[in-house]
Amino acid sequence: MNSSIRVLFIGDIVGMPAVERVCAMLGSLREQYRCDLVVANAENAWEGKGPSKREAELLFAAGVDVITTGNHVWENWKSRPLLASNPRVLRPLNYPPGNPGGGMVIVETIAGAVGVLQLQGRVYMPPIDCPFRTASRAVEQLHERAHVIIVDFHAEATAEKIALARFLDGKVSAVLGTHTHVQTNDARILPNGTAFVTDVGMSGAFDSVIGMATEVALRRFLYQTAHKYELAHGDWRISGAVVEADTESGRARTIETFCLPCPEPNRTPA
Ligand SMILES: [Fe+2]
Repeated sequence: MNSSIRVLFIGDIVGMPAVERVCAMLGSLREQYRCDLVVANAENAWEGKGPSKREAELLFAAGVDVITTGNHVWENWKSRPLLASNPRVLRPLNYPPGNPGGGMVIVETIAGAVGVLQLQGRVYMPPIDCPFRTASRAVEQLHERAHVIIVDFHAEATAEKIALARFLDGKVSAVLGTHTHVQTNDARILPNGTAFVTDVGMSGAFDSVIGMATEVALRRFLYQTAHKYELAHGDWRISGAVVEADTESGRARTIETFCLPCPEPNRTPA
C-alpha cells in the first residue's frame, strides 16, 4: 500500500468552456501530479451558477472523483436534484438542515480512504450555521473511516479562512480555500500538519473580472444596479493545488499551487 495519498484540487470552474478545458487537461494533470483523487469546485460551472447534470457528468467522465460547490449552487435549480441524487456532489455542510444534498463524503482510492468535507464562511456571506462547530462534528465522524481529510472552505474573508485552518490544524490533512477566484501566495503546512492555502484560484477566463465579462462587471460597479452577468472569453487558465498526505497519520507532507494556461479544447494537451 502507498504510504501517501496525493490529491489534486481544481479551483472554481467558471462556465461550460472552462468545464471543457478542465476535462481536456485532466488526464495529463492527473498523470503529471501522480494523483490518487481529484476534487473539483464547480459552483460556477453552469453560466456562473451551480452545475447541472451535464456539467457534472462531463467532469466525472474526465476523471473528477468529487465535485464541491458553494453559495451559487442554489441559483441553478437544476443543481438541486443533482445534489439530492449524487453523494459525490457536495454543497457546504453548514447550510441549515432541510436543504438537499450533503456536505461530506468518503472516497476509497487505490492509496486509501479520503474524506472530503465542504464548509462555507459567514463573513460577507449568508449567515448560515457555524462552520467551526460544524467542522468539529464532521471531522469526528469522518475520522472513524478516513485518516486523510480534505476540506474545501468556501469563504470570502481571508481571516475567516486562516482561522478555520488554524482551528482544524492537526485534525485534517488540508484546508483549501475557494470562492474568491483569486489564487493567494500563502500555501504552507501549518505547525500540526495541515496544508493550507487561503484560495486556490479560478479555472476560467482570466481576461475578465473573476470569470465574468469585464464590461458587465464594470457597469454593476459604476451604476450600482443589476446587470446580467455574462461569461468572459479569453486567457483561459486552470488553477488549483496538489496536496500529499501521509496515509496513516493524515498529516500533509507537501502542498503546491498551480495556475496553468489551457490549450484550446479541440487540441490534445502537450
Ligand atoms: Fe462562491
